[in-house]
Amino acid sequence: MTSSRKAGATGPAWERLSAEIRVCERCELHRGRTNAVIYRGGDHPRLVFIGEAPGAEEDRRGVPFVGRSGKRLDEGIARLGLLGEEFGIVNLLKCRPPANVFSRSSAATCRPFLDRQLELLAPDLVLPLGAHALATLDPSAPRITAAAGFQRVTAGWTMFPLLHPAATFRSRKNLARWTDDLDRLRALLARG
Ligand code: URA
Repeated sequence: MTSSRKAGATGPAWERLSAEIRVCERCELHRGRTNAVIYRGGDHPRLVFIGEAPGAEEDRRGVPFVGRSGKRLDEGIARLGLLGEEFGIVNLLKCRPPANVFSRSSAATCRPFLDRQLELLAPDLVLPLGAHALATLDPSAPRITAAAGFQRVTAGWTMFPLLHPAATFRSRKNLARWTDDLDRLRALLARG
């Protein structure tokens, strides 16, 4: 492991990257941005959750997952028994897309930022949240409904995909699946 892989969400490399993201104009999403949404979590997280894109509240505050889905995610993190320092949260897109419609072309443009974040954070486990995050990180993965709740070692990372927290508001079945998958993850983490 190189020193940059251990750098974490602190220090000059992270600050430089965050500053670049804040002023990025590589795609049209910057035009509607109030704040770029970069990171929430510990400086040296063991687990990094990867969402899709900031919503209105995230754009307003510049922090990922602070709306309704964020509350669901935080409940899930509490269920895992994780402390604040142990996890981190990022998004594929750093700027809010209009009408919250995910943009694949912006995700491709934004991807190098995610890769640099992951390289610096160097977590033990990466948790794509939902179909877009999974397909972006691992294009060969099966659908999220098949992949969620199972560990995958692929694309240089150990991953544990989960449904997107927003999906848990759409049906009781999704909420039950979310809870079951978190319990499987908790058991996996307990085994070390
Ligand atoms: N908030 C985020 O920051 N990301 C999502 O994917 C959804 C809500």
